[in-house]
Amino acid sequence: MGAARRPGAVREAGAPGAEDGREAGADGGIVVDGVSVEYVARRSREVVRAVDTVSFRVGPGEFVALVGPSGCGKSSLLMAVAGLTPCRGTITTQGRRVRRPDRSVGQVFQSAALFPWRNVLGNVQYGLRVRGDGRAAARARAMEMLELVGLTEHARKYPHELSGGMQQRVNLARALAVDPEILLLDEPFAALDAQTREDMQDELLRIWQETRKTTLLVTHQIDEAVLLADRVVVLSRGPASQVQETVEVGLPRPRDERVKDDPRFLDRTRRIDDLLRRERAGTPDRAR
Ligand SMILES: Nc1ncnc2c1ncn2[C@@H]1O[C@H](COP(=O)(O)OP(=O)(O)OP(=O)(O)O)[C@@H](O)[C@H]1O
Ligand SMILES: [Mg+2]
Repeated sequence: MGAARRPGAVREAGAPGAEDGREAGADGGIVVDGVSVEYVARRSREVVRAVDTVSFRVGPGEFVALVGPSGCGKSSLLMAVAGLTPCRGTITTQGRRVRRPDRSVGQVFQSAALFPWRNVLGNVQYGLRVRGDGRAAARARAMEMLELVGLTEHARKYPHELSGGMQQRVNLARALAVDPEILLLDEPFAALDAQTREDMQDELLRIWQETRKTTLLVTHQIDEAVLLADRVVVLSRGPASQVQETVEVGLPRPRDERVKDDPRFLDRTRRIDDLLRRERAGTPDRAR
């Protein structure tokens, strides 16, 4: 129980927001309430519970990061929030129960998955055209998004002509083009080299500050989570992983790379690192 009194640690898993008084469920944000995700093993037909009764919330306009050991179910949770994976429990986005994919949710995954036969502009316009925007309006909106991610000059290029970082910018522009209320990011920068990743983190900070989308980010990088997020939800090791602790970042915004020099940054990253190390060593903090 001592964990809750440590600097940076706010509370153990529990009923979402029961004690913090925020009203994410009613008018926006993401509420994950008692969610379990199960898979059936193909050969044995055995049911494996990847995620076990996880609860957390992302308030409207809030940025929450989800970290945890590899295989603990981070992507499964994100897919459930996106309505792409069935789950037990309840998930609401913008106050609506998630039952299937919803256009108000934008997603960016680790690999860019752009249409190779469309140029950058065509890729960013695609979702807009699908939802029925006229050609000129879609083009204008796509160009606006390309400006936001710094790719105006590359609008006519094809995905294979772009670097990995540029492809992820296109992906981000594509997700933002339809003006989603919620942004789900699953290790969007994991495939990038360290320098490009830092540039993209800066870029995401700036874009988030401009757009204030309710954002849920899955990442392996502790410093990325602390740099970007308002709160970091730490999951325990799978199977049947649960919320181990939620760490309040509490660093001022707007932020940039310099925030890494703040002693609070070090404190939060250390705390999360400790939690993950204990998980790897098989001595979870909650059992101490
Ligand atoms: N389609 C599937 N069928 C069966 N099992 C699955 C499926 N998808 C995921 N799993 C299992 O569920 C567990 C959680 O997987 P998931 O990909 O959500 O973890 P993760 O935390 O995102 O891992 P990583 O950090 O490596 O990306 C793993 O044990 C995985 O093997
Ligand atoms: Mg994953």
